[in-house]
Amino acid sequence: MNILECIINNKAIEVLANPGIVVLDFLRQHEHLMGTKEGCREGDCGACTILVGELHGNEVIYKSVNSCLMPLGDAHGKHIVTIEGINQPKELNPIQHAFVEDGGTQCGFCTPGFIMSLTGYCLNNKQLKSSEAIHSVDGNICRCTGHPPIKKAIHHIVDGLKKFPKTNGTPLTHLIEQNILPEYFLSIPKRLEAINIAPLVDVHIEEEHMTVVSGGTDLYVQKAFSMHAERTKRISSWQKHVPITEDETLIHLPGTTTVEEFRLSPVIAKYFPELKTQFELFGSTPIRNRATVAGNIVNASPIGDMTCLLIALNASLRLRDGGSQRTIPLRQFYKGYKQIDKKKSELIESISFPLPKPNSRLSYEKVSRRKYLDIASVNTTMAFELNNDRIVNCGISAGGVGPTPLFLAKTSEYLNGKILNGKYFEDALEIAQTEISPISDARGSAEYKRLLLRQLMVTHCMKYFPGIVRKESLV
Ligand SMILES: Cc1cc2nc3c(=O)[nH]c(=O)nc-3n(C[C@H](O)[C@H](O)[C@H](O)COP(=O)(O)OP(=O)(O)OC[C@H]3O[C@@H](n4cnc5c(N)ncnc54)[C@H](O)[C@@H]3O)c2cc1C
Ligand code: FES
Ligand code: FES
Repeated sequence: MNILECIINNKAIEVLANPGIVVLDFLRQHEHLMGTKEGCREGDCGACTILVGELHGNEVIYKSVNSCLMPLGDAHGKHIVTIEGINQPKELNPIQHAFVEDGGTQCGFCTPGFIMSLTGYCLNNKQLKSSEAIHSVDGNICRCTGHPPIKKAIHHIVDGLKKFPKTNGTPLTHLIEQNILPEYFLSIPKRLEAINIAPLVDVHIEEEHMTVVSGGTDLYVQKAFSMHAERTKRISSWQKHVPITEDETLIHLPGTTTVEEFRLSPVIAKYFPELKTQFELFGSTPIRNRATVAGNIVNASPIGDMTCLLIALNASLRLRDGGSQRTIPLRQFYKGYKQIDKKKSELIESISFPLPKPNSRLSYEKVSRRKYLDIASVNTTMAFELNNDRIVNCGISAGGVGPTPLFLAKTSEYLNGKILNGKYFEDALEIAQTEISPISDARGSAEYKRLLLRQLMVTHCMKYFPGIVRKESLV
């Protein structure tokens, strides 16, 4: 039990509570805030979406989060906003009103989640766009209304809010003026400042059996019914506000970087602009707001998307164990199914990979059964440099085709030094098939996954060498 201090809607909370239970249970069972719904408890439906506000300087930044996967301990020092917290005293707020008017709600079970996601989008953007607003509800599913009336409501909300005042206004003050948020939001920065949050500077795993929790998006799915009883070390606030940086040779990111921070990082955008859109297919906005890069690597899923990208980019991990540290190439980290080269007490402190050069090229591809909110059936990345038309420093990764995320060492080596032509590329496709050992499961048969990898490698090739792919390779 720990003392939890936070603000839930407009109420200051100070309570002795188990930090390992999820925020959803605390809201419903302790605070009796029943507007936040319990659906799947796996981050898939969005019925439990809340906003979590955190102090950055003297401003509070709000993010949408699945409360079913967020440990209560991570609410310490934060502003937790539920649907009750944005209600106006007498009438529906304009977002709620648009849902009713446009027929965007029937049973209403999903509605609070949609409204919280949209409110989060409006709070984070001065210039609203319908297409982006629709993306912000990528983690919300409606089972009975159908999505077209919800989209119609979103268009009306965005149109109504577009007239952002040109001077002085922030999204927060604009939303208060538009009666979307209550005025108490203005008092939150000062109230959060008054809560004493000890920074997590020097992280030690004091007890052998402690479970390290970062975003919790894997752990709270895998151990939904036992996490509340575990001794946990919550590290999501470790390296808080440490950005992704570059030096002369490397790009560095803290292990606790969230997937959304990675996706929106100016450094990543400078070298890999296409990843911003491609990584919209990683989970959903609330999942990406919590899921971390190190968590993705340590979870060791053969189809982890971050892992797939970072293997091709030849990333290294810096592991910290109390006062000592070591560095290991990610390509050597996986030893077998869910077996990794890491002691229980070691933490991934940071990840780095070589700074891309002007002649560097990257192609990342993922195929899943559903386009959105689904993990890959097969994913693959190809990274290389072009020196006078010659491929050098080639790195090809493949996920979903073996017990671990794979580095296709032989295929990559074969392509190194080659001026690519149809024959060499056909050879590479053949070599890749010898490096994989997919199994049949819910994501497809072994044969299908072999074919998928082959086709995705053809896609890599077509992006940079469109002329050399033979017609026979396309079928
Ligand atoms: C609905 C949903 C959709 C998803 N979609 C995708 C998807 O499209 N693509 C994809 O790749 N994944 C997806 N995931 C999986 C998940 O979000 C990622 O694997 C995530 O990156 C894990 O990070 P986390 O911080 O939440 O990990 P946690 O759950 O906190 O931890 C996972 C493991 O990593 C360990 N760990 C965490 N941080 C560290 C560290 N710094 N050092 C040492 N050990 C550490 C933990 O002890 C634990 O063993 C999805 C999950 C959900 C629930
Ligand atoms: S209950 Fe479904 S995402 Fe949380
Ligand atoms: S209104 Fe019933 S699930 Fe969306």
